[in-house]
Amino acid sequence: MARSGVIATLVAILAFSIAPCSAQPLRALADARDLYIGAAVSIPALDSPEYAALLVQQYNVVVAENAFKWNNIHPAPDTYNFAEADRLVALARSAGMAVRGHTLIWDQDAPAWLDLPGVTQQQAITAMRSHIYRVVGRYRGQIAAWDVVNEAIDDATMAPRTNSVWYRLIGPDYIAMAFRFAHEADPEAVLYYNDTRTEDLGPKSDAVFELVSGLLAEGVPVHGVGWQMHVENGFRTTVDHRANAARLAALGLELTITELDVRILLPASEAALEVQAETYANVMEFCLDEASCRGVLTWGFTDRFSWIPTFIPGWGAGLPFDENYRPKPAYEALRDRLLNG
Ligand code: XIL
Repeated sequence: MARSGVIATLVAILAFSIAPCSAQPLRALADARDLYIGAAVSIPALDSPEYAALLVQQYNVVVAENAFKWNNIHPAPDTYNFAEADRLVALARSAGMAVRGHTLIWDQDAPAWLDLPGVTQQQAITAMRSHIYRVVGRYRGQIAAWDVVNEAIDDATMAPRTNSVWYRLIGPDYIAMAFRFAHEADPEAVLYYNDTRTEDLGPKSDAVFELVSGLLAEGVPVHGVGWQMHVENGFRTTVDHRANAARLAALGLELTITELDVRILLPASEAALEVQAETYANVMEFCLDEASCRGVLTWGFTDRFSWIPTFIPGWGAGLPFDENYRPKPAYEALRDRLLNG
């Protein structure tokens, strides 16, 4: 990157002289617990000094909300656009933050230019391989963990989606191939399977368990499972979440809570924000208790930039900071658990 971009961001951060939160930040507390605490980043929002300052101040890991996704980073067969991803990686490096890579293969983000009549299995495999080699290779050694495959299980059938472009063009082996290519591109990288609504026991998490067990049995390099955890206010982990984490840990896999947000039916009352704080405390406590849990990332950190109101109309206010970057009770709850949990 764009060294000048990093410098501009750092200057902006310095210019934002009033520290948003004076108490010990989340990242210091998380470092002391050997845990990742992170947030998804909207790259255009980094232009806001408040946004960038708070991010760097509070978090020890970042993930791009969209910048690493196929259609952003590789919009046409011969066009790669690394500017936004580079910007985040450079900022993270300068601020001592780790980076999660999200995501290499996601059905919802498959390249339309591949899904054309007459495309052969071999062409699809070649496209996948060159994408993964190029993207993972570029950031080799700089990404703490990759979400190699995202949301491959179909909620309707509770089995790998057969209507996925990748499944249709390559067949069920596309998942194993993606992990193998990522491993070849960066043999040190920690490779995750990431999915949604797969946290407690049930057919979806059984399907994920079966998938990763099968991959491991075939010698495929998979090292972790990501639980997205886009949950509703009042959510609590249960014995089922413990049991699910335990069976994944028994396979030798690590776990990360990758996309937490706790949505509230709007407008959010003060009482709802207190309930939300308890949900955040509960999830953090869960991660602290589970030896395999490497950390918690939220999908954004300020309610000013969150996918929820757009994707789930009527809901929002799901993150630890409000729209004006002020800490919410959820933030205090995270701090409290990291200090005392
Ligand atoms: C979402 C982003 O937040 C949106 O900005 C984008 O338009 C669509 O994707 N699960 C995932 C994320 O794995 O990549 C999704 O992110 C949210 C659900």
